[in-house]
Amino acid sequence: MATQLILSVFCAVLSVVLVVANSRVDNSAKCGCDEALINRRGFPEGFIFGSASAAYQIEGAYNENGKGSTMWDYFTHTYPEKILDGTNGDVAVDSYHLYKDDVQIAKEMGLDSYRFSITWARILPGGTISKGVNQDGIDYYNNLINELVDAGIEPFVTMFHLDTPQALEDAYGGFLSSQMVADFEEFADLLFREFGDRVKKWLTVNEPWCLSNLGYAAGIFAPGRCSEWVGRNCVGGDSATEPYIVTHNQLLAHATVVKLYRTKYQESQKGEIGMAVNTFWFLPYYNTDEHLKAADRALDFMFGWVMDPITFGRYPESMRTRAGSRLPNFTKEEADMLKGSYDFLGLNYYSGMYAKDNPIINSSKLSFTTDSGAKTTGLRDGVPLGDQGCSLSRYYTYPKGFREILRHIKDKYNNPAIYVTENGIDEIRNDSLPLSEALRDVKRKEYFYDHLCCLREAIEKDGVNVKGYFAWALTDNFEWASGYLVRFGIYYIDFNDKLFRRFPKYSALWLKSILRGRIDEKPAAESIVSSDH
Ligand SMILES: *[C@@H]1O[C@H](CO)[C@@H](O)[C@H](O)[C@H]1NC(C)=O
Ligand SMILES: *[C@@H]1O[C@H](CO)[C@@H](O)[C@H](O)[C@H]1NC(C)=O
Ligand SMILES: *[C@@H]1O[C@H](CO)[C@@H](O)[C@H](O)[C@H]1NC(C)=O
Repeated sequence: MATQLILSVFCAVLSVVLVVANSRVDNSAKCGCDEALINRRGFPEGFIFGSASAAYQIEGAYNENGKGSTMWDYFTHTYPEKILDGTNGDVAVDSYHLYKDDVQIAKEMGLDSYRFSITWARILPGGTISKGVNQDGIDYYNNLINELVDAGIEPFVTMFHLDTPQALEDAYGGFLSSQMVADFEEFADLLFREFGDRVKKWLTVNEPWCLSNLGYAAGIFAPGRCSEWVGRNCVGGDSATEPYIVTHNQLLAHATVVKLYRTKYQESQKGEIGMAVNTFWFLPYYNTDEHLKAADRALDFMFGWVMDPITFGRYPESMRTRAGSRLPNFTKEEADMLKGSYDFLGLNYYSGMYAKDNPIINSSKLSFTTDSGAKTTGLRDGVPLGDQGCSLSRYYTYPKGFREILRHIKDKYNNPAIYVTENGIDEIRNDSLPLSEALRDVKRKEYFYDHLCCLREAIEKDGVNVKGYFAWALTDNFEWASGYLVRFGIYYIDFNDKLFRRFPKYSALWLKSILRGRIDEKPAAESIVSSDH
């Protein structure tokens, strides 16, 4: 996942700022590194390297062979103006038909694992079993899983990645209702039954913060709800209350499914289950007590919001205090179920961010987005915290924050096993670039390199128990509210190419080289790219 600002004017201004700021590279943003160890030998035995995707961003075939409509189908079709280029995932990069190509390129790179998500409405078009099971959906994921297993690639499966069946949105408002907990459990039960013999790594929910914050506070993502004063032409909503309810129900859905797996399937299927949680690393805007506290609160409201409940069975104290009665309570039974409800943590990390103390809250404009009393920004006095992938990016490259968040997880959350389930950087789409130029994503390769350096330090020096790393994303794809205007892929796709051919970018070839341990060959971007095409 990645979120984009939808303000092109702002982006133009930002580009100017970036040019000015480039002269002040902050070396402290990186970690120490031995280049000779950024390969398999530098990581623990059994460490998994993979790449990731999400169903709505890649599958297409939005209405083929019995699939039901999802919240994103409805959102993009009904409000195309809410997508930067007015597009949708109707066809995306056609992975429904081209899944064998995806498996082939993962194999080609020497990846150990491929993370993908399942479209709930492709299997249960009406959201529940009583509305019918779509055999084509079961077949599709069986084929994909079998193709992976045959290629020696471990399937790493996300059950829910932002795409609520529209039937459940229509019936009771999706995750606004606690009815979702039982329906998610029923769906998960079906997945364990059908695929659990081959799938040994499960993620229940991807990035609860994104659905709640972007879908119900900011109104940028489906279902596009927010308070009227937010001014995004939302279809209704309340930014002060709904985000809290939606995360609450996602947490309960997660814990219920973990309990189901542990009681009914884990002993025989011998897999593991967790959740994919995203966060920035927050730095205080200035090194003062107020800003340090603001950074702690920002982390509570993004990461602690999910991590504290699934680890300790309760919300962070700062949220309890500041959101008051708008933050739902867990019953004793729910708290017990949530506590320790993961075998491993999936961490999605992209960016650092400053947090600025912002004590003034307008009581007639309450929102989850301001409740923390911390204003988050990538710019300090006009200077960006780090490089940005492109002018549309919301992210600021800060590799050291990767090490910091990993150490924080170890210290605060009882040293869990961690898989980094997403890490990556965006680039702007530019159809005028010749293919050879478009494939030369040197900045992305540097991004992966710098983050793998910090990951190694987290493992070696801080003793963090990280067991795998997934580069986001396997291919260019539909980037939610940014449509097809940005690219996150390590494989390039020309969106005008009806065949959706996958071309390895420089970053993919570099990953391939480190996974084979051929570190003595350090080909220039030019030669490595032109020799392949
Ligand atoms: C949660 O529990 C606290 C303490 O018992 C109470 O003050 C608060 O009103 C409750 N919140 C809700 C939303 O019920
Ligand atoms: C708070 O929001 C209201 C409603 O938009 C506005 O009229 C008022 O000026 C705001 N107050 C402050 C202190 O910003
Ligand atoms: C797109 O690429 C062309 C050809 O290299 C270049 O002239 C142009 O400035 C690029 N546009 C953007 C927005 O980067």
